[in-house]
Amino acid sequence: MVSVGSAPAKVILFGEHAVVYGKPAIAMAVDMRFEVTIKPSPRNITLVEGHPIKERYHAYVKYVHDHFYSGPPLDYSSKSGIPSASGLGSSAALTIATLGALKAHHGELEPSIEEIARMGHETEYEVQGIASPTDTTTSAHGGGIYVANEQSSDHLWSISRGGKTWHLHKIDIPEDMHIVVGYSGESSKTRLQVKKVSKATKRSKFGMEMIDEIGDVVEEARGALKKKDVVRLGELMNKNQKLLTILGASNDKLQALIDAVSDHSYGVKLTGAGGGGSVIAITDKPELVRNLFEKRGAKAYMAKPASVGVKVNKGV
Ligand code: MEV
Repeated sequence: MVSVGSAPAKVILFGEHAVVYGKPAIAMAVDMRFEVTIKPSPRNITLVEGHPIKERYHAYVKYVHDHFYSGPPLDYSSKSGIPSASGLGSSAALTIATLGALKAHHGELEPSIEEIARMGHETEYEVQGIASPTDTTTSAHGGGIYVANEQSSDHLWSISRGGKTWHLHKIDIPEDMHIVVGYSGESSKTRLQVKKVSKATKRSKFGMEMIDEIGDVVEEARGALKKKDVVRLGELMNKNQKLLTILGASNDKLQALIDAVSDHSYGVKLTGAGGGGSVIAITDKPELVRNLFEKRGAKAYMAKPASVGVKVNKGV
């Protein structure tokens, strides 16, 4: 009997990095999925992709296995439709899919999504040393997620860790808004990027002011999303990108991708931790933007929203 869990990727529309400091953020699940399958191990040790489980290579799966499972050795395997270290949340999707597969393994075919999201955040936080619940919550719940520093309408649940409190909410993302992802092909190392931004915030008071300003941009973007005002959303994306650049989260390759499409987009910015990974553009010329990204050597994807987050299944 096999147990399967799958979970979607995400894009952060506004507020990455600042959300680690308790500021708001807006993210959306996209329809690229990570799938994890669990079987009883054929040996007396737990395996991942046929190899003995090791923290060095399988940090997320090992944390989940050690903390949320007790029982005979398992055999984990996975299939990913999400490029790794691309800023699209592949580690969060792997974590959430693994938790989903374990729920199925325990016979829970309609598990609590909140519980999975909470366990997912704990896993990312412990493995990375620091993390906001943005990626794991978006992957677990699907759709649009608004992370806030206070509770408002469409509240899902709240969590405190490391002296910060995040309130997670559902938010509607207009379905007719075209978001194109340009993946630079360079890896985005979340942990290093979060450290880099942390240094920038400590270097001067100015750094922390940038974080506060990103928080203001996110709140304004929330209003623009409600009004479906793509022009204002685009301006706010550009402003968010400037602030991220000042904090050191962008790089030349991402900026070249941004410059290549900015004349044909309402707004364009990096998404996720940056320093590599991907940029996203809001545009009404998605095919042109996709071609321009590809001309610059990037992989381009139309970010279709994924309304369903974690899925769990049992098969034969
Ligand atoms: C990474 O996708 C987003 C960051 O804000 C880190 C986090 O929220 O945990 C950079």
